[in-house]
Amino acid sequence: MTPRLRKWLFETLYKNRYLYRFASTLPFAGQWRVWQRLVLTRIRGHDVLELGCGLGDLLADMIAAGYSCHAVEHSPEMVEAARDTLRRRKLGENATVVQGSAQHLPFTNASFDTIVSTFPSEYIYDPDTIAEVERVLRPGGRLIVVEGANLLPVGFLQPLLVLVQMLVYGPAAVFGPRKRRNLDEEMTGNRNGRRPEEGILHTDRDTGTGITTDVLPEAWFGQHIPLEQCRLRRRSERVRSRHWEVYITIGEKE
Ligand SMILES: C[S@@+](CC[C@H](N)C(=O)[O-])C[C@H]1O[C@@H](n2cnc3c(N)ncnc32)[C@H](O)[C@@H]1O
Repeated sequence: MTPRLRKWLFETLYKNRYLYRFASTLPFAGQWRVWQRLVLTRIRGHDVLELGCGLGDLLADMIAAGYSCHAVEHSPEMVEAARDTLRRRKLGENATVVQGSAQHLPFTNASFDTIVSTFPSEYIYDPDTIAEVERVLRPGGRLIVVEGANLLPVGFLQPLLVLVQMLVYGPAAVFGPRKRRNLDEEMTGNRNGRRPEEGILHTDRDTGTGITTDVLPEAWFGQHIPLEQCRLRRRSERVRSRHWEVYITIGEKE
């Protein structure tokens, strides 16, 4: 798919909540919500801002978990959808979701402890966005970006879904540098509890859920988010289950 066609497709999705719900559920084997919720254990402090909240599901999860939340969302249709989600779940109020742009945040300096962004569009690569993030974060605060996630080609159905994702996003977005590595070997290593590769700073393994988190010193993902330019310290986490992996970039303010 060409970049222009992809852009058109996504802009269409952001205008229709039903299409967006469908597109973020079925092709990802229903895991999108699981991936969004990986944010919850990474939040610091009490005051949270979400950029590009889409349908508002994660926003509602965060409010339900006791955080004081705001969201800035560009698409008026998605603002309405997110407000409906909050109403349906009896959480928050209309003012929680502001129509606006991540590049011009309508908040005073040092207002938030954590800013989250899941599956962001191009705005996250814009230095104006990261400068705004740095401005409204408190010292010690963090930006959490769930930049992307992929199903792994395991089982019967997932290889088919991986193929669909490759057609939409391109092989590089789905496999990263693994064209050059051996994905099967990596997945076997992961299943057997071995470290999948050298050079990992730290690994956390949750034996209950089977989820592994690797902190990577030089990750191939997240590199285009201009954190250092705005004095945010980078942390790259690859979170992996038997069926998927998720790429999380965190920017910490001193
Ligand atoms: C791929 S969707 C992700 C939505 C949601 N975070 C999720 O996990 O499903 C990207 C969202 O960012 C919004 N968006 C795009 N540009 C934006 C900007 N400059 N500022 C704020 N939101 C923006 C879109 O309208 C869309 O709702």
